[in-house]
Amino acid sequence: MLSHEDNELLARTNKGTPMGELFRRYWTPVLLCNELPDRDGAPVAVQIMGEELVAFRASDGRVGLLQEKCPHRATSLVLARNEENGLRCIYHGWKFDLAGRCEDMPTEPADSNFREKVRARAYPTVEAGGMVWAYMGPPDKQPPFPNYHWMDLPADQWEAWKILQENNYAQAIEGGIDSAHIEYLHGTLERAAQGRNNPPSVELQTTKYGFRYAALRKAPGGKVGVRITPFVMPWTTFVPGNYGQTKIWHAWVPKDDGACWEFDIHYNEAKPYDKKLRSYQWGFDVDPTGRKTRNLSNLYQQDRELMKTTSFSGIEGVRVQDQAAQETMGRLVDRTQEHLGTTDMAVIAMRRILINSAKALARGQEPIGLDPSINYRAITEAAFEMAPGGDWRAEAPLTVTLVG
Ligand code: FES
Ligand SMILES: [Fe+2]
Repeated sequence: MLSHEDNELLARTNKGTPMGELFRRYWTPVLLCNELPDRDGAPVAVQIMGEELVAFRASDGRVGLLQEKCPHRATSLVLARNEENGLRCIYHGWKFDLAGRCEDMPTEPADSNFREKVRARAYPTVEAGGMVWAYMGPPDKQPPFPNYHWMDLPADQWEAWKILQENNYAQAIEGGIDSAHIEYLHGTLERAAQGRNNPPSVELQTTKYGFRYAALRKAPGGKVGVRITPFVMPWTTFVPGNYGQTKIWHAWVPKDDGACWEFDIHYNEAKPYDKKLRSYQWGFDVDPTGRKTRNLSNLYQQDRELMKTTSFSGIEGVRVQDQAAQETMGRLVDRTQEHLGTTDMAVIAMRRILINSAKALARGQEPIGLDPSINYRAITEAAFEMAPGGDWRAEAPLTVTLVG
């Protein structure tokens, strides 16, 4: 349970809010690279943490990210001409470069220096892992770019995509670090019955990037099944899997306070990634706006017959199941009304670290996870069995570099 004040502090990320200022300190995925296929092609509207922005691929291939509304009189730059490394507004022809400088103001007298005084808000970008990332914080605080190990894998071993999730970002992260739902929401009737006798116990370890936790379950032969999930500030998790299986990296980036972008990387460290998983197992059918075909308006096409025979949830597709659980809480859940149980320890830790970090930053204390000494390549999930009484922290050390 959270107080109303903390719930608001956790959920709201517009510019000027404590959480919004915290989030703007981190490199942030804003759209997929393949949404901008062509140099000088059509600009794309993108909303991140309540900010209306326009992304475009410039003549030289770089990606620009500017405020969507023209600084002159607010015509959308999504309609702009994309030419010679900048956007030229179709209303009066003012042109802005990738840094937001006004390069041309054809409606002003030739000897006017007014254009030097007008600037569009602009954010630096990096393309990595199939995503365009932006840094939206104070320029003098820009941190090193977080290179994850899957970014070094061959191109046929991973895939990036995004889905619009129609609820506040924090509900989505809570699902990403909640091991206790797997047997139920994602399970068959049989698996759910087994889960009843074997609920996980949860243990936490704080790290320089946030924390990681282990869900420990009884395994055959008296062993202990371990699933380790990292939470990387401020919105990233990994789904644990065995080597050779498809693994997942998630980031849930606020679109506004009532919706978020789920960016997913599916990767396989050992072999080419099977792209059929995307629509089949994971249930991704999205329209061009990123909205799921199975969504709240059709109750996720839940099948009551399937619920009687095989499926616990009756909903097809793992990601759709997750989003059904999280979207039906409401756009912004009221955490004053909840009742947390023993398996919610990681959820509590995630909220605490975000709320405390936002409050600390407001007092002038720098956030964690931005230290250049952090080796982002070493951050990963883990799934294995260990002997009873073993220490999962020692069996899966923090310092192992997996790829590259
Ligand atoms: S509104 Fe864009 S140039 Fe006038
Ligand atoms: Fe899930």
